[in-house]
Amino acid sequence: MNGDARAVVRLEAVTHWYGAGGRPARPVLADFSLLAAPGEWLCVLGPSGCGKTTLLNLVAGFFAPRRGKVLCGGRSVAGPGPDRAVVFQEATLFPWLTVAGNVGFGLKRQGLRGEAHDAAVAREIARMGLSGHAGKYPHALSGGMRQRVAIARVLALSPAVLLLDEPFSALDLPTRERLQDELLAIWAETGATVLHVTHSVEEAAYCGDRVLVMPRAGGGCVEEVSVDIPRPRARLGREVMGLEARLRHALRACLLQTPAATEEGKS
Ligand SMILES: Nc1ncnc2c1ncn2[C@@H]1O[C@H](COP(=O)(O)OP(=O)(O)OP(=O)(O)O)[C@@H](O)[C@H]1O
Ligand SMILES: [Mg+2]
Repeated sequence: MNGDARAVVRLEAVTHWYGAGGRPARPVLADFSLLAAPGEWLCVLGPSGCGKTTLLNLVAGFFAPRRGKVLCGGRSVAGPGPDRAVVFQEATLFPWLTVAGNVGFGLKRQGLRGEAHDAAVAREIARMGLSGHAGKYPHALSGGMRQRVAIARVLALSPAVLLLDEPFSALDLPTRERLQDELLAIWAETGATVLHVTHSVEEAAYCGDRVLVMPRAGGGCVEEVSVDIPRPRARLGREVMGLEARLRHALRACLLQTPAATEEGKS
């Protein structure tokens, strides 16, 4: 792992909106705070457009919040860094590089060369079930395979913080479940802090130490559900299924919330 594995991720009163102009009545994130404990697997559920990807992008440092603070490992996030790696909603690979080239890209940038580089690349490719495809280019892969390459590329860097944006949604069920288990095992080994955005209550109930259910863009309450189901969890066990039902209920409730325009936003 990198130096400060088990980093805490903190958002303090973050308000964010896109575009020019002042604060709109319903910013994407309104006075939003979050604390992911070091080594915690925090799942984030919420309706489409409520700001989940925005939240991850802020932690990744792709842009700064209009208001409030984003901190990682106690330091203010001032841009992207090797301590935070993102698996995007849609796999973003370099089309001119092979599978092995994509997986090794970050390692090369970190100065890893020769056998150590090749061994790390081969390990991550095998872990994602892509052995035999190392020399292929992205255009020759299925969507699910591309996503597995994107995950392998991130895991090769052993980041302290893993930012997962619906990483499994393009995968078929057996592959999705296998990769969830693989990522959970890697997480247990490395102690990375994970922020995992998903639309799946099943996935959140199976993976999360805690689940946040975000309201629609512009406000309302974030519901927080702590999960004390021991691991490894039984996907179809009573506890996981009970939690799924609770999360489903929380999601429905947040869809019914009407965001209130703030005084500042109305002006
Ligand atoms: N770069 C951008 N420029 C302008 N508006 C944006 C930009 N990115 C996101 N938005 C808007 O911000 C809101 C939140 O978007 P975001 O992508 O964070 O939602 P999300 O919760 O990840 O949704 P989904 O579940 O569909 O992925 C949406 O209304 C979206 O249109
Ligand atoms: Mg999104």
